[in-house]
Amino acid sequence: MTPPNTLGVVLRAAGVALAVDLSDRELPAVIHWGADCGPLGAEAFAALALTGVAPVGPNDMDQPIRLSMLPEEWTGWSGRPGVNGSRAGRAWSPRFRSTAVRLDSTPLTAGVHDAGAGVLEVEAIDEESELALLLSVEMSVSGIVRTRARLTNLADEVYQLDELLLSLPVPASASEILDMAGRWGKERVPQRSMVTIGAHRREGRHGRTGADAATLLSVGEPGFGFARGEVWGVHTGWSGNHVHQVERVSTGVQVLGGGELLLPGEVRLGRDESYESPWVYGAYGEGLDAVARRFHRMLRAREQHPTSPRPVTLNVWEAVYFDHDLDVLVDLAEQAADLGVERFVLDDGWFGSRRDDFSGLGDWTVSADVWPEGLHPLVDRVRALGMQFGLWFEPEMINVDSDLARAHPEWIMATGESLPVESRHQQVLNLGIPACYAFIRDAICAVLDEYDIAYIKWDHNRDLVQAGTLPAGRPGVHAQTLAFYRLVEEIGVRYPELEIESCSSGGARVDLGILEHTDRVWVSDNIDPLDRQQMNRWTTQLVPPEMMGSHIASGRSHTTGRWHDLSFRAATALFGHLGIEWDLRTATDDERAELRTWIDFYKQHRALLHGGDLVRLDHPDDTIAVNGVVAADRSAAVYSYASLARSETVSPGRVRLPGLDPDARYRVVPVVPTPLPSRFTPARWWGFELAPSAVYHGAPVWQEGSEPGVEMSGALLGAAGLMAPLLYPETAVVYAVTRV
Ligand code: GLA
Repeated sequence: MTPPNTLGVVLRAAGVALAVDLSDRELPAVIHWGADCGPLGAEAFAALALTGVAPVGPNDMDQPIRLSMLPEEWTGWSGRPGVNGSRAGRAWSPRFRSTAVRLDSTPLTAGVHDAGAGVLEVEAIDEESELALLLSVEMSVSGIVRTRARLTNLADEVYQLDELLLSLPVPASASEILDMAGRWGKERVPQRSMVTIGAHRREGRHGRTGADAATLLSVGEPGFGFARGEVWGVHTGWSGNHVHQVERVSTGVQVLGGGELLLPGEVRLGRDESYESPWVYGAYGEGLDAVARRFHRMLRAREQHPTSPRPVTLNVWEAVYFDHDLDVLVDLAEQAADLGVERFVLDDGWFGSRRDDFSGLGDWTVSADVWPEGLHPLVDRVRALGMQFGLWFEPEMINVDSDLARAHPEWIMATGESLPVESRHQQVLNLGIPACYAFIRDAICAVLDEYDIAYIKWDHNRDLVQAGTLPAGRPGVHAQTLAFYRLVEEIGVRYPELEIESCSSGGARVDLGILEHTDRVWVSDNIDPLDRQQMNRWTTQLVPPEMMGSHIASGRSHTTGRWHDLSFRAATALFGHLGIEWDLRTATDDERAELRTWIDFYKQHRALLHGGDLVRLDHPDDTIAVNGVVAADRSAAVYSYASLARSETVSPGRVRLPGLDPDARYRVVPVVPTPLPSRFTPARWWGFELAPSAVYHGAPVWQEGSEPGVEMSGALLGAAGLMAPLLYPETAVVYAVTRV
């Protein structure tokens, strides 16, 4: 028997189900989030709800604690509540009752509604606390859940909101945590720990997403990997201060939570004023690859997702830094075009007094000293060579040594008279001040109006510290984040063809909030391929490869000083939006020829690389890394096999190629650019032969008359795999796979 006042909604898509109990006008409580077990009728829903009711323990609350998506303190929940705030100490423990429930805009009053992907909205009110709530829960076709809440103050007296934390319950079997750490030049380093009683709470207090952002906080069955173990993850889609957490309380209940981190007194709502939280995303899957692919599909399904082939890019930062010289830049542009580059990006140093990073930020007019004819001669040449032109901006920042700071010192963020500690010799410009916002917008638009610019690299190179709004100095990070989104959006509307990259000292602004407005992220300032194997690999946990800037740099890394073969740099960069960041004037003819081969390969395969399914191999030997992308129809794939360090074994043995159609036959061919890489012993199946004298020098040659590579079924490639070649550490090979 279904209780008469039952109201339930089941959202289901792509193998994921979210069952939400809304009975008795209570806030929505998730009674199942995980594998889709088929349609749920009223009886099954009631049984699912009933079988989830926890026993009431001795000395516990006298009724089971009902955990909603905004957990309420009145229930006896001892974890962090969903709504934290008060009216100077009153109205601090709200009890909401729902007043309306809608599924895809249709009002619901009773019954169990089993839908597919869709949007659930719940309006609720607490008359005593005089607060109103609108809670939205969406299931995307790819199976990602996202939720957000809007809180409105209905009273005359100000309500100060301290935190709004959205929660999704996860089963106790999810006992291991994986999230990310990081710093400048080493973003998205995975770290694992165990769920224990208490909260594993990751606070981002940088005023931007942060190089050390948790990015995706996952919990799963112990030892979960790319292909194995159930995993549940949470991501807060916000580019300001934010929280990710998993909290386990002594009743045994555990929840994933996310939201914005608010500074003291940052959100004070007057009558009828509202606060809207960022979207908090929940992803479930069998293994991390399944979770990543859901994010990729969700992003790819958006109307604004970049669909044109991702142009091979040359960014001149590591080639010339601040040293802008027209002849040199034209030379680089000509060399780039000759190699097949499609987009040329002029980085920092083109404006105001910006000859180094001590001055000029904020003065967005082309520097007459360096560019007497403006950027025209360069832009015209780049366009004539058939490439797009891109330009660097850092709109939210200011050097104290700038005309703008001299004219408007009050636009600098600070809490009082003294300025915050400098970082990269710069301060933060307060876009929350309407006049400042308009000034910066107009300055950017003036440049975009004058030149044929297809792309902006939008940078943000310091943390927000003491980021207040003068004269009172009240916290301004929340307003700044919203103003930044507004500005990117306004510029996007005005220049619909313009593409924007989110850069922040490299990869310190990578989140789904900014990806709603931008076309790619810069993963890291560190382009060393060894570090990029890790950073790219873990950035794809959230971001699809086509949105991930991935460049081939010079042989010696500017960040780490390490030297790497071009084949390793290219094999690593291929699995993203490919670019070059290298002073091509220093490249040898052989390097240029090899670079051209890789660019051609990227162009031939980019539809696959940017539209296929990501696979990463679980392998106990962490000195190797295997990544791949398999076409959605399983007709082709590209894998890379990288040796990251020397292992204690000679060979890792056979290496599996996951993700192929088990019933199809494939040819696997090693992609060997010219000149042949000299740093490995090929596997026998490659079809190479080693010249006898070349054992220690490589120099393999094709076997006469043989066809390169091998033909095998997808089942065998996935279950048995292929013997790995012997690679020097810090080298890689690429395999091209086609169905025969
Ligand atoms: C940041 C970016 C770099 C480059 C410099 C320019 O560090 O991450 O890629 O654009 O700024 O100053």
